[in-house]
This record gives sequence, C-alpha cells and structure tokens, in this order.
Amino acid sequence: MKRLEGKVCVVTGGGLGIGAATCLRLAEEGARVAVTDLDVDAGGKSRDAIISNQGEADFWFLDVTSQNGVSEAFEGIRERWGRIDVLVNNAGIAGVNTPPDEVRAEEWQEVMNVNVNGVFYCTKHVVPHMRASGGGSIVNLSSIYGIVGAPDLPAYHASKGAVREMTKTDALFFAKDGIRVNSVHPGFIWTPLVEKLARDSGEGVEAFRKTLDERHPIGHVGEPEDIAAGIAYLASDDAKFVTGSELVIDGGYTSQ
Ligand SMILES: NC(=O)c1ccc[n+]([C@@H]2O[C@H](COP(=O)([O-])OP(=O)(O)OC[C@H]3O[C@@H](n4cnc5c(N)ncnc54)[C@H](O)[C@@H]3O)[C@@H](O)[C@H]2O)c1
Repeated sequence: MKRLEGKVCVVTGGGLGIGAATCLRLAEEGARVAVTDLDVDAGGKSRDAIISNQGEADFWFLDVTSQNGVSEAFEGIRERWGRIDVLVNNAGIAGVNTPPDEVRAEEWQEVMNVNVNGVFYCTKHVVPHMRASGGGSIVNLSSIYGIVGAPDLPAYHASKGAVREMTKTDALFFAKDGIRVNSVHPGFIWTPLVEKLARDSGEGVEAFRKTLDERHPIGHVGEPEDIAAGIAYLASDDAKFVTGSELVIDGGYTSQ
C-alpha cells in the first residue's frame, strides 16, 4: 500500500516550483491532491501533470491572503472528497531585496500578508476539517532564512522566522487533536522564485546560480523534488511521532 493512500492533501501555491513538485509526489504516494493557487494556468497544468501520471487531483483557485477564499475553497474540497488530512502551506513570495531602511511599509506588508497571514488563515480554516477526520498533518514552508540571517530580503527573513515559530506553537495547541504541525527549511532551490531573484540580481542568471551553488557545501542548489520528498514524509504516518520539528533540507548550508 502506498504511504498516502486514502488521504486528501491540499497544497497552496501548487502551480509552480516546490508546490508543483509536492503535488506530483503526494499523488505518486497515493493521495488525492487539491492543487490550489492564484495562478489558474499554472495550477491547471500541475493538476493535468498528476492526471497524466495516473494520479488523482483537481484544481481550486485560492489566494491565501483572502480569508473567505480560503474558507470556501476548503469547504469545496471537503464536499468533493469528504475529508482533509494534509495541508501544505507552501504559497510564498520573496518580496523586495533592499536594505530594511529602504523597504516601504506596503512592501513589508505584502510579504507578511502572503507568507504569514496566509499560513494563519489556512491553518485556522483547515483545523475543523482535520478534527472531523480525527487528525491530520500540516507542513509549513519556512526556509533556511527562518533560521539564519543574510543581508538580503529582510521582510522574507522576518516572515519565515514567524512561520518557524507559528509551527511550534500550533504543534502544541493541536497535538491533543492528533494534528501534527512541522516546518520545512529548504536551502536555495532552483524554482521560478529563485530564477526571478537571479534575473533581478544584475550579475546575470548563470553567475548568480554559480554563487548560490558555492554557498551550499554539497556543491549545488537543490531541486524542488528534494523538498517534495521531505514534505511527503512529514505528511505520512511514517512521521506519526514527529510534531513541532524543523526539517532542514539545505545541502549543508546551515551547518557552516
Ligand atoms: N525556492 C527556494 O529556494 C526556497 C527556499 C526556501 C523556502 N522556499 C519557500 O518554498 C515555498 C515555495 O517556493 P517556490 O520557490 O516554489 O516559489 P515559486 O514562486 O516558484 O512558486 C510559488 C507558487 O505560489 C503561488 N502563490 C504566490 N502567492 C500566492 C498567494 N497569495 N496565494 C496562493 N498562491 C500564491 C504562485 O502562483 C506560485 O505558483 C515558498 O513559501 C518559499 O518561501 C523556497
């Protein structure tokens, strides 16, 4: 039997990058996957890739910054498949790459809205469904930037630190409900988010990637599938005694 057979998994930001790889992996492990995203084209392609791979999936439009939208999408998923067992809080944005004293309040707020409020809304509205199913697993995408500092992306660092701590608090609140909550901390993973950072860097995409590669002791940046594998573990009953933990998948970045 596959590890996620019978489980219904919801992934936010499931259209691209780590989210898309996670949707595919969860489906390969036997889950019914609710691909959600505000990018309808990317989300539809992610769903279609699962179906072409003999998996079961559907797409729901979901902007994690809309509390009503979150609540309605989760109701729709539960109506369709009867339960929700796993939530992957993956949707996230990098925000501006300027020193903190040059970040505008609206720029700061935008990152917090997606990366922090989005995790709050999705967690708040999935918990009743998980309680109704007798438990569940919530996996929050933090980052190495939620553990260590770097002189870039100040709002992003703050948001990922918040997600790391929200994870531990939520793990304690929901342990008695059989709901596990864990965070994942990727190093740099080559996705559209990082490709955009590379394009905006001014040093050229190839030079940017080489610099990033060298920052990881293993010698290169990661792939979305490296993170999807860790998320699938935390989603599954193999991790039934794991809650409030931090799964670092970073090619050794934070060991230095
Ligand atoms: N790529 C990395 O190096 C890296 C490292 C550490 C952590 N992370 C985290 O992993 C997660 C995924 O990152 P990625 O690199 O795959 O990003 P990405 O930009 O490649 O993909 C993000 C997806 O989220 C969606 N999204 C953005 N805002 C949304 C919103 N408001 N509501 C719903 N969906 C929204 C986008 O449409 C997109 O499909 C993020 O939380 C990111 O912070 C990424």
